[in-house]
Amino acid sequence: MIYPIVIYGAQALRNPCEELGPDFPELQKLIEDMFQTLESADGVGLAAPQIGKNLRLFVVDCTPMAADRPELAGFRRAFVNPQIYERSEETSLYSEGCLSLPGIYEDVRRPVSIRMRYLDEHLQPHDEEFGGFAARVIQHEYDHIEGVVFTDRLSPLRRNLLKGKLVALSKGKYRCTYRTR
Ligand code: NI
Repeated sequence: MIYPIVIYGAQALRNPCEELGPDFPELQKLIEDMFQTLESADGVGLAAPQIGKNLRLFVVDCTPMAADRPELAGFRRAFVNPQIYERSEETSLYSEGCLSLPGIYEDVRRPVSIRMRYLDEHLQPHDEEFGGFAARVIQHEYDHIEGVVFTDRLSPLRRNLLKGKLVALSKGKYRCTYRTR
């Protein structure tokens, strides 16, 4: 099932997200649906709030980038109840976009690597370091489950320049190729 994607301005992107319990119903189905939704929108990451579910869950599929970045081959993962507990001091700037903010692309500064504890789709625990493009995508999606979108991380000046576009998004004035709500 492909979910419509929630657009900037919706409360679902700002609500606190809850951890998933071990008896969460039909988790596999939800994760597969999220991957399907992500693929249909040509994205690399999708967090549960973006389909209107305030859960600490996101999926990342970097495999479409693997032609340019061989280290990403096979990087298609679900992250349940993730907790980033270490961030590198070194940061980098990279142009980001978001399925919930169609048409907006801005350079965002983030740590280049992180350490994170999480459960996979089978609820097996992991403790792993991520760097490079994967770390970038993971941090963007992690922000979503904390109620943060990437434009929140821009300078006040930069955000002010985007104000018109952000207001337009929240009023439903945008175009994109995937289903939204
Ligand atoms: Ni996003």
